[in-house]
Amino acid sequence: MKSSPDLRTDLATGVVDREIYTSEKIFALEQERIFTRTWHYACTTRDLKKPGDYFTVSIAEQPVLVIRGNDGEIRAFHNACTHRGAILTGERCGNQGQTLKCMYHAWAFNLKGDLTGVPHEEGYGPGFDRRAYGLRPVHCDTFHDLVFVAIRPTVPSLTDFLGEMADHLAPYVQGIEPIGRNSWIYQGNWKFWHENFRDDYHAEFTHRSIRDLLVGTTARGWNWGAAPGHSVLQWAFPPLDPPKYARALQRFSGVDFSDGTMPVGWSSMLAQGPPGPPEGFEGGPDGGFGGGFEGGGPPEIRQEVLALFPNLDIQPGPKDTPRGMKAGFLQTVTPLGVDRTRVDITVYSDIEDDAAARQEALENLADTQGSWGKLSCDDTEAATRCQIGVRGEGGPYSLFTRGVAPGRGGEDADVRDEYSQREFFRVYQQYLQDES
Ligand code: FES
Ligand SMILES: [Fe+2]
Repeated sequence: MKSSPDLRTDLATGVVDREIYTSEKIFALEQERIFTRTWHYACTTRDLKKPGDYFTVSIAEQPVLVIRGNDGEIRAFHNACTHRGAILTGERCGNQGQTLKCMYHAWAFNLKGDLTGVPHEEGYGPGFDRRAYGLRPVHCDTFHDLVFVAIRPTVPSLTDFLGEMADHLAPYVQGIEPIGRNSWIYQGNWKFWHENFRDDYHAEFTHRSIRDLLVGTTARGWNWGAAPGHSVLQWAFPPLDPPKYARALQRFSGVDFSDGTMPVGWSSMLAQGPPGPPEGFEGGPDGGFGGGFEGGGPPEIRQEVLALFPNLDIQPGPKDTPRGMKAGFLQTVTPLGVDRTRVDITVYSDIEDDAAARQEALENLADTQGSWGKLSCDDTEAATRCQIGVRGEGGPYSLFTRGVAPGRGGEDADVRDEYSQREFFRVYQQYLQDES
C-alpha cells in the first residue's frame, strides 16, 4: 500500500513543504523510514570503560541499551525485558555489574544478553527454553571513539552510511572522552534544530552575542553537502582583540571587566599556531581556506560544525588554539513528538587534556551551547517560533535556496549558502519516499 507523503515540492530544490514540520503522518513515517533505517550515535567508547558500563538511547521511540561485556565487546540490545517488556534500566548511563536484572519479576540477563535467571522457573513447565528469551540484539558498531546503533538489519554498513563524511570526521573522534552533559526539551520539530546547526545565515542576526562580541565572524566561511545527507559548515573569526572584546562585553552585559578580569570562555577564542587549514581538510593546504589571515599577525580562528544525517552534530573546538581540535561537543536531537524535541549534548575533551583544559571546555560549553548558554537560548527561541509559525496558513513553503550555483557547495560557497541543508533534504526525501 502506498503511504508516502504527497509533498508539494521536490525538497532537494530547497523549497520545503512546511507540512514536514506539522504532520503527524509524516512524523510517523520519519520514525519508521528514517530513524529505524539509519545509524545513530549512542555514546563514546569511553562512556563504556568497564564491563557492565551501559548507556541508553531512544531511537524511533524504541528504548535501546548499549553495554560493554566482560570480553570487552560493546553490544546493543532492546532495553525491554523479554518477560513482559519492562525496561531493564531507566537511567541514562551507569554500571550494571555482571547482571541486568529486571525490577518486575527479577528475570536476569548476563552482559551478552543471555537469560540467566528466572525465579520459580519450574512453573513454566519442562518445555521452557531460556535460550528463546535472550535480550533482542540491536546492530552496534564503532567509528573510532563513537558508538553507533541501528534498529533495522537492512541498514547500510556504518562506513557506507558515513560516506564522504568518514574521512573528515575521523581526526576529530580519536582519543576523546566525555567530560560533561546536558539535555533539554524544546517545543518544536526536531528538524528545526538540526537545520539550525547547518545554518550560518542566522548567526549574525539571531545571536546578539555574536553580532556584538565577535564582529566579522560570519564574513568568511564555507559549506559542503557531504553525501549521503551529511554536511560540513566552516567559518573563520578574525583574530580577537581581548581588550576590545572585554569592552564590548561590558557594554553588552553591564558587567565590569575593567580590572582585567576576562569573561568565562574567552581564552578558548584566542588564536595560536600557524595559519592555513588543519591537516587533512578538503581543499588541501591552500584550497578552500584562502590561505589564512591576510596581512600577517595572528591567524584567524576556524570553527566548524559537522552534521550527520539524520540527527547528530559535532562541533569541535576552535582550531589553532591551545585546546586544538579535540575538545568540543556532540549533540543529538531526539524527536519526542511532531512539535517536541530533546537536545542532548556531550562535552568532550582530548584524553591528554589536563584538568585546566577540561574545565575550560566545560566553561566554554556553559557560556555558549548549554541550554542556558548565550547561543542555545537564542536557537531554542528560533525553533519554537518557527514551530508556532508553520502551524498556520502563513505560507506553504520554507526556503533553503541560498547559493544558486549547482553542486554541493565547497570552497566557492558562501557561509550563508544552504547547500548543507539541501543535502539533508535530498536524502531525507529519499528515505521518506522509500516504501520498501
Ligand atoms: S517484566 Fe521483566 S521479569 Fe517480568
Ligand atoms: Fe545559532
